[in-house]
Amino acid sequence: MPLLEVSDLRVSYGKALAIESVSIKVDKGELIGVLGPNGAGKTTLLKAISRSIPSQGTLTFKGQSLDGVAPYDVVARGICHCPEGRKLFSELSVLKNLQLGAYLRKNNAEINADLERVFTLFPVLRERQWQQSSTLSGGEQQMVAIGRALMGRPELLLLDEPSVGIAPRLKGLIFDAIQQIRKDGTAILIVEQDATSTLRITDRVYVLEHGRTIREGTAKDLAGDEYIRQVYLGV
Ligand SMILES: Nc1ncnc2c1ncn2[C@@H]1O[C@H](COP(=O)(O)OP(=O)(O)OP(=O)(O)O)[C@@H](O)[C@H]1O
Ligand SMILES: [Mg+2]
Repeated sequence: MPLLEVSDLRVSYGKALAIESVSIKVDKGELIGVLGPNGAGKTTLLKAISRSIPSQGTLTFKGQSLDGVAPYDVVARGICHCPEGRKLFSELSVLKNLQLGAYLRKNNAEINADLERVFTLFPVLRERQWQQSSTLSGGEQQMVAIGRALMGRPELLLLDEPSVGIAPRLKGLIFDAIQQIRKDGTAILIVEQDATSTLRITDRVYVLEHGRTIREGTAKDLAGDEYIRQVYLGV
């Protein structure tokens, strides 16, 4: 049984169809990429999975339907969403933002262990934990956003464009951290514009254009696909 199964997903904003038909699977512990140009429906896909917006089609997680499940209950079931544009509580400290990621949890020992895990993954956040999050660099804020999602202790982490607008050095740190999170056993569905880095770190990739899946395959196969090379890799 796949961890996440999305079948024939369809999402509209009013009359505008954003996702026409998308089907994807994520198995336990996999690192899966979603590529596609602006407006392809990538963010919409992640929002539908975390139930932030309504959709048609089937969504199942660990064999159970996510139909009618509230967003906080999706988190409780093990899916945490690190949204596009980070969406931090900018006037709050780094630590407070991280703690808010654990708002549904009660076991303080586990919460502290996970905070320690975030600080090990992103040591700069330990140093900056008392700082107001709006004063961090863009890359550091992205680390807080990923850390906050990890504080929900997900089995599946949804990442929406974690590398966008970030200095190259921090971007490398973020992609390294994503690989480490997966090694620690968390499955990841990552949406990205950086096709080269995505194909380097993922197991399999789906390519969305105009709300439809136009390619899917192993990262290795897609890296050798003529269309993907020309349009997404520019080689
Ligand atoms: N709240 C909204 N209301 C109306 N239309 C929307 C809304 N959000 C997204 N759309 C439209 O849905 C389509 C898919 O948008 P989406 O944000 O999912 O694309 P994306 O692949 O994430 O793009 P980007 O790479 O720019 O983030 C676009 O045509 C967009 O204009
Ligand atoms: Mg988007």
